[in-house]
Amino acid sequence: MEIARIVRDELFREKRQAKDFDFGEDTAKVFDDMLERSIPFYSEIQRMIGEMAADFAVPGTNLYDIGCSTCTTFFQIDPLVAEGVKFIGTDYSESMIARANEKMAESSITHPYELVCSDLNDGVSIENASVVIMNLVLQFVRPLRRTRVVEEIASGINKDGCLILVEKVLSPDSLINRLFIKYYYELKKRNGYSEMEIAQKREALENVLIPYHYFENLDMLVECGFRHCEMFFRWYNFCGMIAVK
Ligand SMILES: C[S@@+](CC[C@H](N)C(=O)[O-])C[C@H]1O[C@@H](n2cnc3c(N)ncnc32)[C@H](O)[C@@H]1O
Repeated sequence: MEIARIVRDELFREKRQAKDFDFGEDTAKVFDDMLERSIPFYSEIQRMIGEMAADFAVPGTNLYDIGCSTCTTFFQIDPLVAEGVKFIGTDYSESMIARANEKMAESSITHPYELVCSDLNDGVSIENASVVIMNLVLQFVRPLRRTRVVEEIASGINKDGCLILVEKVLSPDSLINRLFIKYYYELKKRNGYSEMEIAQKREALENVLIPYHYFENLDMLVECGFRHCEMFFRWYNFCGMIAVK
């Protein structure tokens, strides 16, 4: 259920004044292309999320995509998930929600859905969830608020439901860390980003995207009451985890 009108991401192509990265209108317009070219195995991660979500989603419950951006995940999982599951997407960017609403309205998505604009830093309200997806979102929540957000999510997930969490992660070893980051920038170059685009975006994200170590994320999931936690994806500094309550 692919929606056309992909606009090429050239946000950091020209020399610009240092400014923190934001998820406003300019970003929302090019975001689908940005993700496709910036996230290693983005389509495969989406496919895996869909496969797992299909096994955990239960009719009569809600499936949440927190930080849904333009709702790419819902299009991927719609054909896989049982009838009777409601999709709820949340994001704090009004521009992302507007773009998501456009794409959903143009699509032939079959599940009932609701899109909500809300900031995770103000708390998150999850009810009767069999699946919660957070694909590259928790890393943007202020570290002081992060455990609370995961606790709130866990409390709204039904028994045997799951959280699917994908994050950029740090390695505790500085040599490995440097290498992984170098390989990541090589991927961005292969996907058509220039040295200047990569450098400017890195600077813009510095205070905005704060990755944890893999073990910090694992400890946080266990502390918040998830019983089974396992890594399902790893590519250098990108890591996907599934946690079952
Ligand atoms: C990398 S994108 C997520 C990609 C998306 N989940 C996907 O699978 O295509 C991060 C998203 O998180 C949202 N976000 C960042 N900080 C947030 C916050 N504090 N509360 C809610 N949403 C937030 C951004 O607006 C953005 O849409």
